[in-house]
Amino acid sequence: RGRLRLPGPGSRGHARLGRSGAAAQPAAEEPGEVSTRKKTFAEVQAERLDQAERTVLIKCPSRLNEKKLLQYLSSHGNVKSHFFFENRGISALIEFSEKSSIASLQDAVGIPSASEHHVVPFKSRLFTFTLKNPVSQHLEETPLHLSPQSHIPVKNLIEKLCLADSISSQMYILLDEYQLTEENIRLRFLACSLVRDFARAYFPDSTVKPFGSSVNTFGKLGSDVDMFLDFRDTGKHATKMKKGPFEMEYQMKRLPSERLATQRILSVIGDCLDNFGPGCANVQKILNARCPLVKFSHQPTGFQCDLSVSNSIAIRSSELLYIYGCLDSRVRALVFSIRCWARVHGLTNSAPGTWITNFSLTMMVMFFLQRRSPPIIPTLDQLKELAGEKDKHIIGGYDCSFVSDLRKIKPTKNAETLDVLLSEFFEYFGNFDFRKNSINLRKGKEVNKPESSPLYIWNPFEQDLNISKNVNQPQLEKFIAMARESAWILQKEDKTQQMINKEPWGLAALLIPFGKNNSSKMKNRMKGIGSETIRSLLDSLKLNNASSQQKAVGK
Ligand code: GTP
Ligand code: MG
Repeated sequence: RGRLRLPGPGSRGHARLGRSGAAAQPAAEEPGEVSTRKKTFAEVQAERLDQAERTVLIKCPSRLNEKKLLQYLSSHGNVKSHFFFENRGISALIEFSEKSSIASLQDAVGIPSASEHHVVPFKSRLFTFTLKNPVSQHLEETPLHLSPQSHIPVKNLIEKLCLADSISSQMYILLDEYQLTEENIRLRFLACSLVRDFARAYFPDSTVKPFGSSVNTFGKLGSDVDMFLDFRDTGKHATKMKKGPFEMEYQMKRLPSERLATQRILSVIGDCLDNFGPGCANVQKILNARCPLVKFSHQPTGFQCDLSVSNSIAIRSSELLYIYGCLDSRVRALVFSIRCWARVHGLTNSAPGTWITNFSLTMMVMFFLQRRSPPIIPTLDQLKELAGEKDKHIIGGYDCSFVSDLRKIKPTKNAETLDVLLSEFFEYFGNFDFRKNSINLRKGKEVNKPESSPLYIWNPFEQDLNISKNVNQPQLEKFIAMARESAWILQKEDKTQQMINKEPWGLAALLIPFGKNNSSKMKNRMKGIGSETIRSLLDSLKLNNASSQQKAVGK
């Protein structure tokens, strides 16, 4: 799995690349091992965006001679890497060494004949490769290696987990199965780069960058691609012009609010994708949302995409999580397990609603790791103290500065195993005083709730906002009950006996819906929780049991 073929002179070798979140890194490190991933967030982003600009996507016939395709492409330049994947047929992602190769290829390819359908003559980097004489070309073909773009179903995962020798190894197995592969990351950046080609038709200085779980090291195969339009040059120009004795500026359309400008830009780009974008389907403009966005499915890459306009705070959140995810291998392993656990039990859902979001849940895991003794990750205030001059970011009056160079952060002295951390996580939040306290990652401390939302998680950068304002009391209580039940399962466990009985144990036992049979036990676990919500909670549990395991395969 996770292979990427790197063609070179006389080489048929396969480079095995780690299924890691950002840069090449061993998939499952042991705690304490020095991470090889030391690149800053900005460096990774820049490298990946550059790579995506040198990349094209080619739809191929199902039976294909790989060598012939590469031979044909090499007449336009050196192919640096490539891989095949299945998505409505076979496609090949091709990375050239030089950007100019793409122009050369674009010059040489034909335009589809307008026999049945008329075509919009927008020349993208999406092509179709066909064989003129398929029969004779079949002879020399070798089977293509297809890189998987989705994770295994939960049922199969549970079987795999049962064969592990500790909960820690179970958690690393889950991480390895679910995390983004090198290939999937390339596809995500390519999707952004293809949208950028449209944005540039109007705004030649613009870029489209991914944020959220595609880049914060917590992305799972199958999760959406969050992307934003960035007009990076606007800031630069302003400072340049201030230096001389004159001032000259662009005449630009003025609108009463930034929000209106955002809505207009997104509206036009949305129409553009809808009308001219090959494979852009189900384009939905959601311009009245708090954060206006365009949703669409990008069929050539197979991603569900959310396009918004540059949101500096969201980017800082992505970078903060990136830093936490890179600091210690236990961080990502724990987040993936908790996210999967929450999905199976219907605590999170891909549709918006009153449940906890993956983003909030990830922040809860970060907070828990800050609270360990000694802490496994630093607080945001500590990261701010380490910030250099270049790391200064003031956004909308908020100081969003924190260190970007991972080497400046001292590794933790905490050596707790993931076995301990998983069970302590459930213990901690099963007994957290949510009525009184809120979760503050900046201070790494529980602080009095400033208002009465059931779950209060301080937005790390906009200190007066609660990122989990949407969560209602029943959802929070369901979370607490599930956490208590899980802590209980882990405590009473007799692994050897369960293995002999061929029963799921450890993490595997937590990924099976707790079922109707358990509802009496659940009642015990819910002692002390407001009785008015118990009934609705148990009802929702029953409803969830049937469908949650299939649903968990979704987002
Ligand atoms: P998955 O897509 O579920 O894998 O995780 P994600 O982190 O990408 O979440 P999502 O796609 O829902 O949101 C994308 C990004 O938007 C997040 O990473 C955050 O940076 C930001 N975001 C999402 N929800 C909130 C919220 O409630 N408050 C704030 N401040 N930012 C949010
Ligand atoms: Mg997302």
